[in-house]
Amino acid sequence: MPRLNKKTALITGGARGIGAAIANAFRDEGADVILTDIDAENGQAMADQIGATFARLDVASEADWNTIAERFPALDVLVNNAGITGFEGQFDDAPPAHDPENATLADWRSVHAVNTDGTFLGCRYAIRAMRANGAGSIVNISSRSGLVGIPMAAAYAASKAAIRNHTKSVALYCAAQGLNIRCNSIHPAAIMTPMWEPMLGNGPDRAERGAAMVADTPMRRFGEAKEVAALAVLLASDEAAYMTGSELTIDGGILAGSAATPGD
Ligand SMILES: NC(=O)c1ccc[n+]([C@@H]2O[C@H](COP(=O)([O-])OP(=O)(O)OC[C@H]3O[C@@H](n4cnc5c(N)ncnc54)[C@H](O)[C@@H]3O)[C@@H](O)[C@H]2O)c1
Repeated sequence: MPRLNKKTALITGGARGIGAAIANAFRDEGADVILTDIDAENGQAMADQIGATFARLDVASEADWNTIAERFPALDVLVNNAGITGFEGQFDDAPPAHDPENATLADWRSVHAVNTDGTFLGCRYAIRAMRANGAGSIVNISSRSGLVGIPMAAAYAASKAAIRNHTKSVALYCAAQGLNIRCNSIHPAAIMTPMWEPMLGNGPDRAERGAAMVADTPMRRFGEAKEVAALAVLLASDEAAYMTGSELTIDGGILAGSAATPGD
């Protein structure tokens, strides 16, 4: 029996990267997948490729979530995956400052609008859509950056920490309501997806840059999107029936230790 047999699952930011891998893995496990993204062209193409239903959804838009709620009033699984770092797009000069001293309020807010507001709106929709069955699973994609400070990506790190904590509020709220709606967070570190493209660049030093980015990772490699998808399948499935409010790291061992560990 497939592990997500006949479950209806909605995934945000599913056009590419980790979201696309999760959508694909969910389809393989028998779920009816609603693949959503702000990018309608690539989202539709990915949905067609894997046999999912596409719906355009900007997770920062309450109106978009209301439209989704009207179209899909019942749900078994929600994956709040869509997220931005604030470094997307092409920049004429240097990328925008995201450190605590120089970041603009507008840049801070634009990251939170997608990552924090988007996750709040997604959870709110999911609780309402899962209430009829009294059961469901919400999987929030946070980050290793939600567990440690990131000086040059302060808004991203704060937003991912907010996702971690909101996951626990949702889990406790649902349990207190007598609902079997579970909510857990996944905390990936460097996973090779298009999100890394602006940092890797297309120059001759691309491979060198990539290696440098994982030089301090104990397993010395990037993770793969399908490795994150495997965790999402577990949390979405009934195998994880006693897991709620938990946080799972998938980081090649980074958070197992500390850069300040005494030498051997
Ligand atoms: N790749 C990593 O190393 C890594 C590490 C930790 C956490 N994450 C998290 O995993 C999630 C997916 O990351 P990824 O690497 O696949 O990113 P990605 O940039 O490759 O893909 C993100 C997808 O989200 C969509 N999106 C962006 N803004 C949106 C919005 N407002 N509404 C709906 N969709 C929107 C994009 O169109 C894109 O399809 C993000 O939340 C990210 O923060 C990624």
